[in-house]
Amino acid sequence: MEAKFTQIQETAYAKLNISLDVADKRPDGYHDMIMVMQTISLCDDVTIRLNNSGKVRAKTNFSFIPGDERNLAVKATLAYLAAIGAEGQGMTITIEKKIPVGAGMAGGSTDAAAVLRALNRMYDFPLSASALEELSASVGSDVPFCVRGGTVLATGRGEKLESLADMPDCIYVICKPEFSISTPELFRKLDQMSLRCHPDTAGILDAINQDNLEQICRRMYNVFEDVDDRRLRVVKEIKGIMLDHGALGAMMTGTGSAVFAIFRKGMETDALVSKLRAGYGFCETAENVSRLIS
Ligand code: C5P
Repeated sequence: MEAKFTQIQETAYAKLNISLDVADKRPDGYHDMIMVMQTISLCDDVTIRLNNSGKVRAKTNFSFIPGDERNLAVKATLAYLAAIGAEGQGMTITIEKKIPVGAGMAGGSTDAAAVLRALNRMYDFPLSASALEELSASVGSDVPFCVRGGTVLATGRGEKLESLADMPDCIYVICKPEFSISTPELFRKLDQMSLRCHPDTAGILDAINQDNLEQICRRMYNVFEDVDDRRLRVVKEIKGIMLDHGALGAMMTGTGSAVFAIFRKGMETDALVSKLRAGYGFCETAENVSRLIS
């Protein structure tokens, strides 16, 4: 299969969980999830260039991120090339990372998803949107959502997607403390406890359908915040600061460690951003991004 372009660029948007529930541990070791996910404007920039090396490598602005198959963007490229019968094509993937790493914002998964959308454009759309999503599930549980984007109910491992009405207009203030939390580690800790509270996912879906931001914020909930881990005290502290500054709601995203607050558009957030940046390092604002492919 011949590529139409030798170089292509794509935006890799971050995700936030508006709610996160864990149902059962499955025989395959994964957990069944019930998550409302949202694509946001905070993003990495991905550029793919073809070359004659016969190898696929990734380069990023963070030296600790691997450039070989351990990088989901490389794994996604190899899976895509195999699917269209173009194995052996050399490529360099350059990723300008702005999404914090180890944050629960699907940074690695969204780079892989951007690579899949870009490659499908590069080769003139040999795969349908649904074939691309299906292929992406083999790369990682969050990758299908990142391929599609928008406001989505994700179930199964996270790969079963139902697109929802757009999330109401709002501003997100996102803060990532300096530590990261490992996803498998937090799942293991969750397995050792019994959850007493679950999010009202049906209520959140109703509120999204009614474009009712207050009702969404009242119900947003992440079961991982209830895990017994001393680092989660910092998460609670950041949430407290956000709510004290007038946030409609605040929550940890995914398995953390990033925490975000929701504000109505036009509400003042500068003082909060300055305070969180000074206290914890990373703090940025972002907006909703709608569905990327259909
Ligand atoms: O699919 P992915 O490689 O992103 O998952 C990383 C790890 O997170 C898995 O190895 C597993 O420990 C955990 N996980 C899980 N249930 C899910 C998704 C991820 O237990 N639905």
